[in-house]
Amino acid sequence: MIDNWRQTFVDLTYLIAAITFIFALKQLSAPRTARNGNILAMIGMGLAIIGTFVSHEISRNYILIVIAMIIGGGGGYLAARQVRMTQMPQMVAAFNGMGGLAVALVSLGDYLNRDEISTGAAIAIVLGVIIGSISFSGSVIAFLKLQELMKRRSVTFPNQHLTNLIGLGVALVLGIIVLIVGEGALAHTLLVLIFLGSLAIGTSAVLPIGGADMPVVIAILNSASGLGTALAGFSLNNQSLIVAGTLVGASGGLLTYFMARAMNRSVLNVMIGDFGAHAKVSAPGAGPIAEEQPIRSTTAEDAAVSLAYSNKVIIVPGYGLAVAQAQHGVRELGDLLKDRGVNVKYAIHPVAGRMPGHMNVLLAEANVPYDDLYEMDRINEEFGSADVALVVGANDVTNPAARNDPSSPIYGMPVLNVDQAQSIVVLKRSMKPGFAGIENALFYNPKTSLLFGDAKQSIEHLIAAVKEA
Ligand code: TAP
Repeated sequence: MIDNWRQTFVDLTYLIAAITFIFALKQLSAPRTARNGNILAMIGMGLAIIGTFVSHEISRNYILIVIAMIIGGGGGYLAARQVRMTQMPQMVAAFNGMGGLAVALVSLGDYLNRDEISTGAAIAIVLGVIIGSISFSGSVIAFLKLQELMKRRSVTFPNQHLTNLIGLGVALVLGIIVLIVGEGALAHTLLVLIFLGSLAIGTSAVLPIGGADMPVVIAILNSASGLGTALAGFSLNNQSLIVAGTLVGASGGLLTYFMARAMNRSVLNVMIGDFGAHAKVSAPGAGPIAEEQPIRSTTAEDAAVSLAYSNKVIIVPGYGLAVAQAQHGVRELGDLLKDRGVNVKYAIHPVAGRMPGHMNVLLAEANVPYDDLYEMDRINEEFGSADVALVVGANDVTNPAARNDPSSPIYGMPVLNVDQAQSIVVLKRSMKPGFAGIENALFYNPKTSLLFGDAKQSIEHLIAAVKEA
C-alpha cells in the first residue's frame, strides 16, 4: 500500500516536472519572459529531485547522495555567481561536459552493477556511454578554446576525420559485441574500452574546429548531452530523465540547425570543414593588409559630428560591447541621437558575441526598445541608406571577405553589409583580429574611421561630444 502511494507520488512529481520544463522552454524563448522561465525550470528540477529521492529505485545511500549534491550544487552555484557575462559560453560548454560525463558514468555504473539486463536497456547503456563521453571530451576542448587556454584554434593531424569515423565504427562494433556477450568480465572490459575510446573520439572531433564554427559545435554538444540523458533515462527507467533529456536534445538540435543556417554551412561541413586550419592567423597589431594599406583613426569629437548630423545611423554591436559592458552607454547614445531626429536602428547578427542571443540579452538589459533591434536579414538592405554605421566591438560579423574573398575561411558566411554604409565608425582597442583570428578589410576601407579605446569609454566620449555638437 505504502509502495503504491510512493509510486503515485513519484509519477506525479515527474509529470508536473515535465510540464514545467515544457512551459519553461516556451518562456525562455523571449527575453521578457526568460527570467520566469528559468524560475519555472528550477522548480521543475527541484520536483524531479524530490521525486527521485522518494523513489525506491535509487540506492538508500542518502548521505553519499547529499554530499555529492552539495559538492555539485555548491560548485555550480559559485561558478554561476562568479562568471562574467562574457564567460557564459565557456560555462555552458563546461556544464554540457558535466552532463555528458554524468551520462557516461551513470550508464557505465548501471551496467557494471546489474546482474540481469534487458537488450533494450543494454542498447541504451552502450549508446549512453558513447554519446556521453564524446560530449564530455568535446565540451572540454570547446571550453579550453573559448577560455583561450588553448591558443591554437584548430589542431589537425593527417586523416583525422577518417580516424574519427573508424574510431566511431569500432566503438559501435564493440558495443554490439557487448550486447551479444551480455554479462561478465569481457562485456565489462569492452564497455570501459568503449568509454575511453569515445573520450578520444570527442577530443579529436572538436580539435580541428575553430573560429566562426564554434557556435555550431556548442549547439551540437548541447544536443548530444541531452540525447545521452534521455538514453540514461531509458536504461534507468526514469521518465523525468527521458523527458528532460529529450527536450534538451531536441532544442539543441534546433539550435544546431539555426546556427548552421546562420553561418550558411551544413552541419557536416562544420564537422569536417577544419575551419581556420588553413587560415592565416594574424599577429596582434599587424597583418598583411596592415602592411599595405593605411588605416584612418578618428577622435570622439569628429565621430560625434558625423553621428549628430546624420539622418540614419545603424549601430552594430559585437563581442567587444559585451567585454566593455557598453550596452547602457550605447542606449543612451542612441536615445540622444533619436532626440535630435536621427533614425537609429540596431543590427543584430545571429552569432555576434559568444552565445546565441548575446546581443539581444545585453541590449534588452539596457532597455533598448525591442522594435529597434533588426535581425541581419531585415537590416542588410538598409546599410546603403545609412549615413553612419557605428560598429561597437564587432569584427567577424562585419567582415566583407565573407562575401567577396573566396579564399577566406569565412567565405559564404552571411555578414552584416556594414561596408555599404556611407561612412563607418569602428570602436575597438587595437588592430587585433576577432574570434576567427582573421584580418578584416573593413578596417582599411577608405570610408572607415577607427575610434581606438575601450568601447565603454569611447561611447561616453561620444555622448559628451554629441551633446556639444
Ligand atoms: P569578434 O569577431 O570576436 O570581435 C570582437 C571585437 O571586439 C574584436 O575586434 C576586439 O578588438 C573588440 N573588443 C574586445 N574588447 C573590447 C573592448 N573592451 N572595447 C572595444 N572593443 C573591444 O566579435 P563578433 O563580431 O561579435 O563576432 C563573434 C565571433 O565569435 C564570430 O566569429 C562567431 O562565430 C564567434 N562565436 C560566436 C558564438 C555565438 S553563439 N554568438 C559562440 C562562439 C564563438 P580589440 O581587441 O582590438 O579591442
